[in-house]
Amino acid sequence: MSKPKVVLAYSGGLDTSVAIPWLRENKRADVIAVTVDVGQPVDLERVRQKALASGAVRAYVADARQEFAEEFLLPALQANALYEGVYPLSTALARPLIARHLVDVARQEHAVFVAHGCTGKGNDQVRFDLSTTGLAPELEVIAPAREWSMTREDEIVYAQQHGVPVEATKSSPYSVDENLWGRSVECGILEDPAVEPPEEAFAWTTSPQEAPFEPEYVRVTFDQGIPTALNDRRAPLHELIDQVNRAAGAHGVGRIDHLESRVVGIKSREVYECPAATVLLAAHQALEALVLPRDLLDFKRTVEQRYAQMVFDGLWFTPLKSALDAFVRSTQERVTGEVAVKLYKGSARVTGRHSPYALYQAQLATYSSGDRYRRQMAEGFIYVWGLPARTWAALGVPPRRAATPTTDRTA
Ligand code: ARG
Repeated sequence: MSKPKVVLAYSGGLDTSVAIPWLRENKRADVIAVTVDVGQPVDLERVRQKALASGAVRAYVADARQEFAEEFLLPALQANALYEGVYPLSTALARPLIARHLVDVARQEHAVFVAHGCTGKGNDQVRFDLSTTGLAPELEVIAPAREWSMTREDEIVYAQQHGVPVEATKSSPYSVDENLWGRSVECGILEDPAVEPPEEAFAWTTSPQEAPFEPEYVRVTFDQGIPTALNDRRAPLHELIDQVNRAAGAHGVGRIDHLESRVVGIKSREVYECPAATVLLAAHQALEALVLPRDLLDFKRTVEQRYAQMVFDGLWFTPLKSALDAFVRSTQERVTGEVAVKLYKGSARVTGRHSPYALYQAQLATYSSGDRYRRQMAEGFIYVWGLPARTWAALGVPPRRAATPTTDRTA
């Protein structure tokens, strides 16, 4: 009988490398490694070779940058998705995409298992497991790091004993995850939420202190909620995001210090660098404020909060999430125009916006000549609008009731 196959989400790091011989030994399975390119700045051919050297029977690399940008980042941008008001969900958004790739390969290869390198403490295990179940309920998910009880040192010994190449590079005290939408940093000194993150924790952003004294303006063009050009140069979304990351990162924009509430109940200190997400979310919100009416903006905000939480919680492939996507998409028809953002020493401020669908009308808003607003109508409006409050107030305050005598408990 041939061995069962397991499709492993492979990053090239120590955990997922050790997972290869571990899966062979403990699940008696052939391991097929899958590495998904979501814009992480690593040499993916080297990662693929390392998977094979670690004992994988096959190793695939999938370039998913465009798919990630268009199918995952764009809906999140249109939903202004910020978990707990601050985290653009960079890591969280990549997990359902990676899971979808694992499922596709598992079906091609007739595998019965998919596997990932997440521990039992984080959000990512929830996202991988739930995304896989949502797409392919027949597959079983294995998380080796949830089963083994090896320390990092144990893992290195295990790797050496099983022919897994261990890089001689001095290991960083941080755990890092990167993709187009941002870079997340955990562990080390960052685990003390009272301590300011040291400069060495950052890689994509210049320290605001060291950033240029000259501000830089970037202009983002949106077409029906889709960013299509930067400073009038059109680019596919994934390239545009990359360009904004570089421009904004150079000005120290996008550093986030988050005291996060994890799905598994733990509070955790998370540090992020999300330059493009910070700029694009600010620009998108500014354009929506210009073209959408108040009640829609207000209702959309409640949807956005729920949306962000669902993404964080790993509920990407669920019917409610699809329904919220449909709502958000329907709000984007008129989100067309340009927004200017000023990058300066760690801040990204919207300084101008323009749209052919602007609800802002100078002839209504102006305090100067050319005013078309019929101000005499305001008095009648306020009379009617204030009627309930006036009627209520006119009845006055009811007299205070005499205090009821308390029962004498000593009796
Ligand atoms: N806490 C963040 C999240 O849940 C980032 C997780 C980073 N993941 C990692 N494997 N380093 O989205």
